Amino acid sequence: MNQRPTQLTRVILLGPEDVAQEAAHRIVKIAEEVLGRGQDFRLVLSGGTTPKHLYEILGSRPFCSRLPWHRVHFFWADERCVRPDHPGSNYRMAYEAFLKNLSIPDANIHRMRGEDPDPHAAAREYEEIIRAHYGLEWGDSPPSFDLVLLGIGPDGHTASLFPETPALYESDRWVVAQFVPQLKSWRLTLTPLILNRARQVLFLVTGAAKAKTLAEVLEGPYRPYQLPAQLIRPVQGQLLWLIDQDAASCLQNSSSE
Ligand code: 6PG
Repeated sequence: MNQRPTQLTRVILLGPEDVAQEAAHRIVKIAEEVLGRGQDFRLVLSGGTTPKHLYEILGSRPFCSRLPWHRVHFFWADERCVRPDHPGSNYRMAYEAFLKNLSIPDANIHRMRGEDPDPHAAAREYEEIIRAHYGLEWGDSPPSFDLVLLGIGPDGHTASLFPETPALYESDRWVVAQFVPQLKSWRLTLTPLILNRARQVLFLVTGAAKAKTLAEVLEGPYRPYQLPAQLIRPVQGQLLWLIDQDAASCLQNSSSE
């Protein structure tokens, strides 16, 4: 595996609230830079529970009025294969936390159709949605999202890239569906191929339950098929880890850098 050098920065903050606030500030700053160049801002949302409070902050004052949301496009890093109104839906979590509070055109919300009875068709459809959004053709290289938000699980997964699952080895597709034996359920996920084209990747990691895994991911041996978060190395982009002190408690080097 080619371990391309990636400019990796980690910022260690006191607790989850500090991580969420710092992330909100950084997201808005990055968005303002992109929008200031006359481009729309393409943001990939993560699922799970960690980003929920960040989303609530983005949907509240002062952040809710900081951006021209009609120029922001929302994508997802992964989705559970459930209906969009299911409690486990990553789309639903983001919609309830902030998207419903912002005047965002429906056309700017590019959700994965987890409800599709054929997950592989949903994955192909989502790849087409991305390709069409960027005006790309089959065979073109993946586009570069402006910012991708990600988390990690206790097993080192990120998005729905779980240890020893086929998506880790995907070298052509930008979006795949896979049955995750660890969860006994189907997931849709962006692949490392497109994730690593992002201009910026922001991991949010909080809580002592992540501490051991985070130390293995950031400081342990490179074994990405057991620790898929290690696969995320933006080819030309920035990689930033926002970590709270509990999650950083097993790091040898617990300084921000
Ligand atoms: C998902 C997420 C997943 C998440 C991690 C961390 O669909 O669950 O995309 O990759 O980021 O599992 O989840 P928590 O934030 O809930 O710890």
